[in-house]
This record gives sequence, structure tokens and C-alpha cells, in this order.
Amino acid sequence: MENKVDVLLGLQWGDEGKGKIVDVLTPNYDVVARFQGGPNAGHTLEFENQKYVLRSIPSGIFQGDKINIIGNGVVLNPLLFKKEIDELEKSGHPLTERLKISRKAHLILPTHTILDLAYESAKGKNKIGTTGKGIGPTYTDKISRNGLRVGDIEHDFDKKYAKIKQRHLDILQNYDVQYDLDTLEKAWFEGVECLKRFELIDSEHTINGSLKSGKKVLAEGAQGTMLDIDFGSYPFVTSSNTVTAGACSGLGVSPRNIGQVYGIFKAYCTRVGSGPFPTELFNEDGNKMRDNGFEFGSVTGRPRRCGWIDLVALKYAIMINGVTQLIMMKNDVLDDFTKIKVCVAYDVNGKKVEDFPFDINENVTPIFKELKGWNTPLTSIRSEEEFPQELKDYILFLEKELETPIKIISVGPDREQTIFRTV
Ligand code: GDP
Ligand code: IMO
Ligand code: MG
Repeated sequence: MENKVDVLLGLQWGDEGKGKIVDVLTPNYDVVARFQGGPNAGHTLEFENQKYVLRSIPSGIFQGDKINIIGNGVVLNPLLFKKEIDELEKSGHPLTERLKISRKAHLILPTHTILDLAYESAKGKNKIGTTGKGIGPTYTDKISRNGLRVGDIEHDFDKKYAKIKQRHLDILQNYDVQYDLDTLEKAWFEGVECLKRFELIDSEHTINGSLKSGKKVLAEGAQGTMLDIDFGSYPFVTSSNTVTAGACSGLGVSPRNIGQVYGIFKAYCTRVGSGPFPTELFNEDGNKMRDNGFEFGSVTGRPRRCGWIDLVALKYAIMINGVTQLIMMKNDVLDDFTKIKVCVAYDVNGKKVEDFPFDINENVTPIFKELKGWNTPLTSIRSEEEFPQELKDYILFLEKELETPIKIISVGPDREQTIFRTV
């Protein structure tokens, strides 16, 4: 029987711990493929006392002879890609055989990055708080049919590049923004040379062929459902479909061929950049989450906004993605909390709302249920039997509310700090 693609994706506003869990699950797969996003992502992995942050390269890259694919739905900046490759190779990880790139992935040009900054500064206090990596302008060019693709490197590349660059320079004349394009371009073209070292593929054929021959494929999401271009907190979102449907279009996989959907979330909630966040905390509890969880952006270093878990948003994310199993991360961050709050509904202008609304603006007040904290360190726990009762109660409460089993519990950043539940 033909295999199906399993998908792992974030259910909150990103940074749920996708990188760690993809790495943990990779031994069960032959192929790991990124399906959207670009170097706005920062996926952290820790093992053998080493820490790595991946941006465009899939998180299956460290586990032996697996094939890792950058899919057609991804946007790739050759300059940052080369940096990532150089660093990984320096630390002794051979990549040439393991990594393949879709010809249909779009390229982030240096001018896309400048446009991102120009658009953000023009928005003033309404800015999105993007990662400044040119994501929005690159996807805009893709959709408006003006983009440049990895496969273009093989034909008439300089001419195509020059045409798009000129279009961007014309737009930039309307913005007050300083830039040094020559330096950026030089490094970018070195990156393009680096790209040529890798096999450029029609990844939809590779992936469907792998399924046919009985191989197992894991699709790795970036960002999170609340940053999805259609279903996230628009306009404070990223520019791609971060949801399961994005794996279909971002890899060329039919919906019939989607298998397990792993939805990953933190025991609390974070967000980087601007935009609404109903359960955000501005008090000591929020600061404690940030300090305990080291909640600073892995791409930009910005402090992440922290708050309690939001079940209205989580239920919505589970519905949109068709999540089959849940993965609960960063439980250890709540080790010294005597009380844990869970947002079970919103109060919108005096009305109790449980379906995620069109807008989550200032009229939304979270309604909380309070649970007891466990007040004991979890980081050295390696089996479910050792869980304190309060953690068991928290997990059971969430499973009941979310109507989906929680299969993995994470108690620290390391590969080893991962507990598979047997129930
Ligand atoms: P991703 O973008 O979803 O891959 O997540 P990030 O790597 O941006 O952010 C997750 C952060 O939490 C990283 O620094 C991880 O090393 C760390 N992390 C992952 N799981 C756990 C956990 O269970 N406990 C703690 N304390 N940290 C974790
Ligand atoms: P990973 O994959 C958290 C946020 C930015 C900003 C908004 C739009 O590591 O979970 P963009 O640069 O995409 O145009 O920015 O999306 N954002 C992320 N937040 N984790 C990410 O990725 C993110 N990628 C983008 O902070 O609010
Ligand atoms: Mg991240």
C-alpha cells in the first residue's frame, strides 16, 4: 500500500519546538521536507551538548542517511542559505548528499529584504514586526507572477534577475530607506554558487515517488497556525499557509496522501512581533515564563511576549489542521508556578465565545480556569510514571478539552528530554 506524508506543524504563534521534535521523530522517516516559510524560521535542536539553529534546512539533517528536501512552497535566500551550510559543514555535518532543493522554490532577492524593511518602516506604529527577511515581498512576487525560482538558476539567470531587481529599485524610489545593495548582491551571488552544489529537483516527483516505493515522509512546518496567511491573526501574520493544506501545495502532495498530523504547542503561549495576543501577561508570571523558557527569538533575538495557554485558539488550530496527535512542549518552564491558568473561552463584549472569532482585538477578554502547579523540577524525568499528579491532571484536562490525544511531553530542550506517552 502507498504510504502517506505525516505533517508536523505549530499550533500557536511559532517557536513551539518544531525543530526539536522533527529531529526526535526523524529516525522513523526516510525523507524530511520543509513545505513553506523561509529564513524567518529558527528551529532549534540540542543534542550531545551542541545547539543548532536551522532556518531553511529541514530539521532531519542530523540523523544519518535521511533525505532532506527544501520544498516548492519555501522561499530561499541564497546568502543566508550559504551561511547556514557553511556553519553546519564547519561543525562536521556533510550535507551534499543529504539535502535536495526544489526547482520551484522561490528565491528571496537582496531587494526583497530591502523592500520588507521599507514597507515596515512606512507602516510606522502599525508595523507587523516582521523578521526583516524579505518573506512578504517574495511571496507577493510569487503570487503576482513576478518571482524568480531556484530552477531559473539553470537558464538565463542574470537577465531574469536584473529585470526583477529593476522593478524593485523603481518601487524603492518611493521609500525613504538606506541600503548598500552592492555588498548584499556580492554575498547573494556567492550563495547562488553554493546552491549549485546541491541537487536541484522536481521535488513533487521525488516525494510522490518515495511514497509509492514505501518510503516514509515527514513534512516540517514553519511558523504556526496563528501566523497563517488565511487563518491567523491577519494582518499580523506571515505570508504563507502554515497549516496542513500548505503541506499539500508546498510539496505537491494530494490531500488523500496526508497521514498523521502532529500538532505541537507549548504548555503556555508566546508570540514575537506585533499583533493581538489575548492571554498575554504583563506581570511577574510573564517575566518568569520568559526567563525560565529563555523566550528570545532565535532569528532576531527579540524578547518573546508570553502568556497563558489559549484553548479557544488551540481548538481552532486543531480543527483547521485536522490534528491527529498533540505534542506538548516546554512543560519544565512552569516548574515553579503554584497556579497554572488556562483560557477556556473569550468574553467578547459581555458574551461568552468559544469559537475563534474574526477579530481578536481589545474587546476580547480571556476567561480562565485555574489548575494547581506541580512545583517540582521535571527536567530529569524520562518516563510518564514519574510525572507529578498535577502535571497528569493538566495533561488530562487539555486532552479532554481538545478532544485529541497528547502523545509526546517535552521537559527540556535536549533530544533526550522527550517522553512518549503510551496511553
Ligand atoms: P521552533 O521554531 O518551533 O523550532 O522553536 P524554536 O527553536 O524557535 O523555539 C523553541 C525553544 O525552546 C528553543 O530554544 C528550544 O531549544 C527550546 N525547547 C524546546 N523544547 C523545550 C522544552 O521542552 N523545554 C525547554 N525549557 N526548552 C525547550
Ligand atoms: P518558527 O518557524 C515566530 C512572525 C514575525 C512577525 C510575523 C511576520 O521559528 O516558528 P515575517 O518575517 O514572516 O513576514 O513576519 O511572523 N514570525 C515568527 N514568529 N516563529 C517563527 O518561525 C516566525 N516566523 C515569522 O515575528 O510577527
Ligand atoms: Mg523558531
